[in-house]
Amino acid sequence: MSVKALKGFKDILPDEVEIWQRIERIARDIFHRFGFSEIKVPILEKTDLFVRSIGEATDIVEKEMYTFTDRNGASITMRPEGTASVLRSFVEHGLHVRQPVQRLYTIGPMFRHERPQKGRLRQFHQLSCEVLGSDLPRLDAEVMAMAWLILKELGLSISLEMNSLGCPACRPAFKKTLIAFLQGHAGQLCEDCERRRETNPLRVLDCKSANCQEKYKNAPSILDHLCEGCGDHFQAVKQGLDVLNIPYSVNSFMVRGLDYYTRTTFELITDALGAQSAVGAGGRYDGLVKQLGGPDLPGIGFGMGIERLALLLRQSGQEAALPGIDLFVAALGEAAQETGYTLTNTLRTKGLKAAMDLEGRSLKSQMKQAGKSGARFALIIGDDELAKGEGVLRDMTTREQETIALKQDTAALAASLAERIQSQ
Ligand code: HAM
Repeated sequence: MSVKALKGFKDILPDEVEIWQRIERIARDIFHRFGFSEIKVPILEKTDLFVRSIGEATDIVEKEMYTFTDRNGASITMRPEGTASVLRSFVEHGLHVRQPVQRLYTIGPMFRHERPQKGRLRQFHQLSCEVLGSDLPRLDAEVMAMAWLILKELGLSISLEMNSLGCPACRPAFKKTLIAFLQGHAGQLCEDCERRRETNPLRVLDCKSANCQEKYKNAPSILDHLCEGCGDHFQAVKQGLDVLNIPYSVNSFMVRGLDYYTRTTFELITDALGAQSAVGAGGRYDGLVKQLGGPDLPGIGFGMGIERLALLLRQSGQEAALPGIDLFVAALGEAAQETGYTLTNTLRTKGLKAAMDLEGRSLKSQMKQAGKSGARFALIIGDDELAKGEGVLRDMTTREQETIALKQDTAALAASLAERIQSQ
């Protein structure tokens, strides 16, 4: 019996990897343009890190973490997201001392034991970034503008929704008002909302049930309960987005599945992925660095799901083709094979993508292979040609052929072929 991959864990096959590399290339380039540096953090962390940051009453911590006890009896978790780990590293290495405002990004796998479906996996990958050390509203707008640019340069059209979740000064009063409102609907809500009414009341607002949403039509809005500081911040973020010409809509029902957010939150939404509408999401988390034992520094960031981006790119027909090779060496006969073998290797040292058949197949089958590999050129060497000191260079697109003198040493021949092909 063959062994299959785990449910919710997916192989990324070579033809898909091309799209992934394109996504990562564009994202990295844009992160660098905005002054971000890459940080790589471990996949395993102490469980406590995620409980303290994401929040005990969240779905992630309650039921989705891959947690196990290691050989020393410590509770370890495979990271369900990147923010907590990056902040742990930031605090542990005192990175704030090096630079007052740090801009960090990381790319890698995350693990959540969710029910797999289209765009939702148990191992998924995020492009995620964090800015630590500034609470200026202009920064919030800049971070959203960066997310927007990544999607734009990928050729995706996505909508940006934003909200403010207030701060520890104003949110508790809003929570009380919301709990009182929900009390009026006790017994009429879905099982999750009934439970969350008390444990995590804000989360009821993004419930997917039509019945619950009907009940929440007249729910109090967080935006009417912001303190002066949060209200001013929110206005200034919106102004920043306007100045940068980033289209957005305000969604006062947007709450996030992680407890650390304060003030600005945002989601990048599509209707092209069924239930999994968020391609990316993020927000501000001003108390989190302190909560993790660091200095009292504000922060903001976002994460984008690479699987979801790749799905959207595929759906919009933007398949990235596997890169073709530059030159296929088709050699017939023992002596020609010998010459072809060293020539192919030398061509690679000159920067060319070169290939040849090592199996000694017929010329016809080698030319078929050259076609399949997407080669731009084929160099045909038969023993007869070799005896005359000649090979035939065929342009695989135009089918034009020219005779190439082989009577030179391999390095010189490879250099002249490389020059000839690279100039095309
Ligand atoms: P999040 O909303 O949990 O935020 O995840 C961010 C993105 O990761 C989602 O919008 C989605 O594209 C992708 N994603 C999440 N779960 C899955 C899954 N099971 N399968 C596939 N893709 C998924 C965070 O993780 C925060 N750390 C983002 C952040 C960074 N906030 C501030 N800084």
